[in-house]
Amino acid sequence: MGKRVGDAMILSIESSCDDSSIAITEIATKKLIYHKKISQELEHSQYGGVVPELASRLHAIALPAILSECKPWFNELKAIAVTSEPGLGVTLIEGVVMAKALSIALNIPILPINHLKGHIYSLFIEKESQLPLTVLLVSGGHTQLIEVKSYSQMETVATTMDDSYGESFDKVAKMMKLGYPGGPVIEQLAHSGDASKQSFTVPLWQSPLIAFSYSGLKNQVRLAVESASSETYPDIAAAFQKTATDHLVQKLKKYFKTNPPIRFAIVGGASANLYLRSQVQQMLTAYKAPLLLAPLEYCSDNAAMIGRCALEAYALEFFVNHTDVAINPRCKL
Ligand code: KG4
Ligand code: ZN
Repeated sequence: MGKRVGDAMILSIESSCDDSSIAITEIATKKLIYHKKISQELEHSQYGGVVPELASRLHAIALPAILSECKPWFNELKAIAVTSEPGLGVTLIEGVVMAKALSIALNIPILPINHLKGHIYSLFIEKESQLPLTVLLVSGGHTQLIEVKSYSQMETVATTMDDSYGESFDKVAKMMKLGYPGGPVIEQLAHSGDASKQSFTVPLWQSPLIAFSYSGLKNQVRLAVESASSETYPDIAAAFQKTATDHLVQKLKKYFKTNPPIRFAIVGGASANLYLRSQVQQMLTAYKAPLLLAPLEYCSDNAAMIGRCALEAYALEFFVNHTDVAINPRCKL
């Protein structure tokens, strides 16, 4: 039986941090045909954060295991998409080496994908994109406000001066010896706490800067944790989550004074935080701007978002030969 044109597919690989993931996306329909992710959270939990060398070794085991399930679609593949920037150098390389090998074996080009753009396109998995869009990207490595006009026209308009929003949850969880990742566990703990029992100063409250900062808040929380018993941890978690989120909302309001949003989105691993979602949703009512969110399963790192992003790169023919793919661990957008 002859293949339909609609059968053309892209295989995408994500290994920028501690998730090994591969997806297959149909080009004509944007349909997600296959998606699997093996997370390394348990292995890193005992260290309170991601250990890059361990992450690299785990990708070397997990990625080939997932890839072996993708063989039935190999003949339909038109390109290999791979996260090439930003991320941990030793883990990005695992995905990129696999993409190079597939490119040589199947004689198809590579689409290098920026992980941050991937998070933005997590909003549009199996959907048409809705642009222009103002995006708050909150993950373990990034806290950025981005104006997205098109795939090729994205501008970072505010960023963090030190730690990221998600990272600050990880650090607070580590102080309380609650393992890694800290986001879900601190959000859960905050449910049973009373934020009014602790008072933390909102970062950059008086500053005219439209920028983010979490290292000062982290130090305030450290002092509170060190001088408190573990019964008060829920109150500290609730106050921390409120202050960390108030900081984002305050800076967003300041930015919107001169740049009111048409539509707004929160993406990245920490966009799963329901308190953050509700606070931003409430704030947006004044602007009558819709809030776009990815389904919870696609907020954290995954190859489905890389595949969706790659559909744009494919249409623009941003193809690269296997000899020309380079990783760029510290790149932004
Ligand atoms: O996007 P992601 O999977 O990886 C990076 O690209 O960094 O984001 C992971 C980050 C971690 O810092 C994790 O603690 C945070 O997202 N996170 C959360 C929540 N779920 C995950 N932070 C706050 N609240 C959550 N519910
Ligand atoms: Zn990410």
